[in-house]
Order: sequence, then structure tokens, then C-alpha cells
Amino acid sequence: DSTMADIWQDAMDHAVALARKSGSLVRDAVQNDMKVMLKSCSVDLVTKTDQKVEELIIASVKEKFPTHSFIGEESVAAGETCVLTDSPTWIVDPVDGTTNFVHGYPFVAVSIGFAVKKKLEFGVVYSCIEDKMYSARRGKGAFCNGQPLQVSDQKEINQSIIATEFGSSRDTDVIDKIFSSMRNILCLPVHGIRGVGSAAINMCLVASGCVEAYYEMGIHCWDVAAGAIIVTEAGGVLMDVEGGPFDLMSRRVVAANNKTIAEGIVKQIDAFTPSRDDR
Ligand code: IPD
Ligand code: CA
Ligand code: CA
Ligand code: CA
Repeated sequence: DSTMADIWQDAMDHAVALARKSGSLVRDAVQNDMKVMLKSCSVDLVTKTDQKVEELIIASVKEKFPTHSFIGEESVAAGETCVLTDSPTWIVDPVDGTTNFVHGYPFVAVSIGFAVKKKLEFGVVYSCIEDKMYSARRGKGAFCNGQPLQVSDQKEINQSIIATEFGSSRDTDVIDKIFSSMRNILCLPVHGIRGVGSAAINMCLVASGCVEAYYEMGIHCWDVAAGAIIVTEAGGVLMDVEGGPFDLMSRRVVAANNKTIAEGIVKQIDAFTPSRDDR
């Protein structure tokens, strides 16, 4: 009903303001916050900035929306499986692209998704080095810095660019599957394979129409919650890597401009289910 819609719109406005504020902190900290800590393994990095920004976002939302729930990357304990309930839930990735952040590679985002009854209502991704604010509200379209976004109309996979990532698992069985999927896709052939080191920004690039699709196995809900609604509101589709419906909590995603391209990719993916501790 309309009162609920107003509250969610209010929440979205708050998310945009928080993403902008957090993003400016992240931008100022790039290459200054050099104390790198490790999580599950030597390539799973975290910094004080990740933790500080998540605390700032959660504290601010708790004050304004005291009954809402949260899932935040840096608040989920190692090995813990996070559950999405029906409660209005903020799904927060304070720094998406921590490895980029640490190295000064200029694709770093603050990602805030919001779900009610397990359905995404809005998403905000602020690519803070590029100063691009992406957002989408269910049924209202997707935007970047106020300009409407539209996915690519390409239907030929061999004229497409596909985005993916290597993730942070260094398990050789996982790496073999990642490479066999990439090899299959590259040899279709496609125009190219890309990946900017941020799941959220990859999804915004699908929404913007400059890559046809993005897929990854090993992502978490906070990596893709906001990006998922930005893609669908820009006219794109979401799918599981084995072709079924996309499940936000499954740790796998295909986001594409249309069903033809999504299905074309699904056929080439050597699917796996990520283990619990890869971040
Ligand atoms: C990671 C990035 C990366 C993706 C990983 C994510 P983080 O997020 O989105 O592109 O490949 O799967 O974990 O750890 O930098 O927030
Ligand atoms: Ca992330
Ligand atoms: Ca992160
Ligand atoms: Ca991380």
C-alpha cells in the first residue's frame, strides 16, 4: 500500500545519502588505510575502513528505522550462514572491492540493498572513485547520477562482452571450474571477458548496457543485493548459474541483459556450490 511505499522511499533516500557519505570516507582512505587484515585466508582482505563504514551505516539506519534488520559483510561471523527473514532487511557491503581499495585500483563501491518479505525493494551502489551513484527502486527504473539506465539490446552472445571474477577461493578444484567456464565462454567466441574487481560495479555495468552479462559463483548476498534490482529495473534478467531462478542467498548469480544471453552463458558454466568460508 501507499504508506509502505512512502516508508521504503524514505529508506531509499536515506540509503543514497549514507552511500554518498560512506563513499567519500572510502575515497579519502584509498591508499591511506594501509593496515590490511586477513579473514578466511591470505587473499581475503579487510581494513579498518570496511569495518568503520559498516558500523556507520548500521548505526545510522538503527537510529532512523529501529525495527529493521541487517545483514552486513563485516558483522557476519566467520563460518556463520546468514539468513534472510521476512523482516525489512538492509543488506550492506560497506566496501565492495576491498582488494581494489587496498591497491588503489579505482573500482570500489558501497552497496546497500533492501528487502522486505525476501523481495528486493531498492538498491544503491555508489562507485566512489568514479563518483557514480547507481540506484533503483522496484517498479521505478534504474538510474546513474540521475540518468535512466537501460541494458544492452544485444541478442548474439558472440557479439557480447561478459563480466566475471576470480573470487577469493584459491582451491584448485574451484579455480579449475572457474577457468573451464571462462574458456568455454571465451571460445564461443565472445568479444571479450572483463571484470573490474567489484561484483556490485559489474552488475551496474550490465544495467548500463556496456557489458551484456555478469556471472560469478562464490558471491554473497551483500555483493549482489543492490546490483540485482539495479539490473532488473534496467530491463535485465537474473538467473541461477544452472538456469533456475536466481536465489539471493545461494552464493551464485547470472545477471544479463536478456534471457537469450543468460541462457547462452548458463550452457557454458561448469557450475559449483561455493563452500561456506570463501569470502
Ligand atoms: C568481492 C568483490 C569481488 C568478487 C568477490 C567479492 P569484497 O567483494 O565483489 O569482485 O569477485 O566474490 O567477495 O570482499 O571486495 O567486498
Ligand atoms: Ca563484496
Ligand atoms: Ca566488502
Ligand atoms: Ca570481503
